[in-house]
Amino acid sequence: MAEKSVGIAQVGTGAIALANHLPGVQIASHGKMVALCDVNQAALEQAFKVTGIEKVYTDYNRMLQDPAVDAVIIATPNRFHKEIALAAIAAGKHVMCEKPLALNYADTLEMYQAAEKAGVRHMTAFTYRFVPAMRYMGHLIKSGFVGQPYHFRVNRLQDWGDRYLNWRQSMAMAGSGELGDMLSHRLDYGHYLIGPISRLVASTRNFIPTRLDAEGKAYPSDVDDWVAALAEFESGVTGNFESTKLATGRGEGGKSQDYCEVNGSEATLIYYLGQPNSLQIGKKGGQLETLAVPEEFLKIPGSPRDPHQGDPGQVFRYDQDFEFIQAIVEGRPCQPSFLEGARVQGVMDAIQLSDREQRWVEVPDPGSV
Ligand SMILES: NC(=O)c1ccc[n+]([C@@H]2O[C@H](COP(=O)([O-])OP(=O)(O)OC[C@H]3O[C@@H](n4cnc5c(N)ncnc54)[C@H](O)[C@@H]3O)[C@@H](O)[C@H]2O)c1
Repeated sequence: MAEKSVGIAQVGTGAIALANHLPGVQIASHGKMVALCDVNQAALEQAFKVTGIEKVYTDYNRMLQDPAVDAVIIATPNRFHKEIALAAIAAGKHVMCEKPLALNYADTLEMYQAAEKAGVRHMTAFTYRFVPAMRYMGHLIKSGFVGQPYHFRVNRLQDWGDRYLNWRQSMAMAGSGELGDMLSHRLDYGHYLIGPISRLVASTRNFIPTRLDAEGKAYPSDVDDWVAALAEFESGVTGNFESTKLATGRGEGGKSQDYCEVNGSEATLIYYLGQPNSLQIGKKGGQLETLAVPEEFLKIPGSPRDPHQGDPGQVFRYDQDFEFIQAIVEGRPCQPSFLEGARVQGVMDAIQLSDREQRWVEVPDPGSV
């Protein structure tokens, strides 16, 4: 007998829902998008146009009463992640939530604990764990290729200038600026490749307190445009993080700089998001060279997509939705779960505290709560 497919509802049908989740769910044979929910009619209409899904809601509480909905994907502004996730968990639905998981560490812990207690699957959308080069880098580090890791280093350098960023430039709606928007993913790279971060000292800066919309109208921004942190991992590895929206002339998205490097006693590995299917490697005493990611790492195990089809900078993102659905079907934890979302949020809170108090700060461990 054919298994029932997992009915999924998309809450928040804006940019990332259209780019990642709606096409991502389509590749999984055991999952089906059954409902769309957004408070904005124009966003709902756009999502209907690309999916043809007729069941639409403007109130997520009503949507959660729909028996066809087994799971929800939350892609609203950060401010609403917690209330929607807790409502979905209370209704017995599985939840994938966009990053950053919430506005602060205490809220992410509450979400993680509620999901565990209810026995539903929970996942944080740290999309870049699914980049083939990132997965292969993780494999090489775990299998000892770099020897003893010494240093972990990332930078995310984009040119967003002074343009209007809507809810992203509001502390009340986003919880932070560049920190949650971009650095959160890179903190997760660190956790994925090296392990938990134990302490850090950090700085943030708002250079553009007023941002301009297309008509030149000015809106205040009270979030960071730049963030940097010097950190120590529990294992003793050093961490060096920088992320900015103000790297003039460096472009945006996949065409700008997203760089991650690990130096170990035996080798160096370098990842660029712009080259998702290869790594730079340097062996002891040698020079950097390019290494193609082997075929088996070009998609996650079981993913039905052909890794040689489509834009390599985009298609890995669909494996994230496949992982969510597959974990539901197999009744196993999702990777990465809300625990990883809370772990990153603990570091983000520590960065904001360090910046405010101008001192080294210990990072909490959500695994020990
Ligand atoms: N994983 C990634 O790579 C990635 C990339 C971009 C954005 N994101 C995250 O995804 C989330 C959404 O970002 P975006 O760029 O798609 O934003 P967006 O502004 O394009 O879309 C958000 C949508 O949520 C809707 N919304 C707001 N409140 C709602 C509510 N209470 N119920 C239902 N819908 C509601 C808005 O009307 C809008 O259509 C953010 O948390 C962001 O950090 C993640």
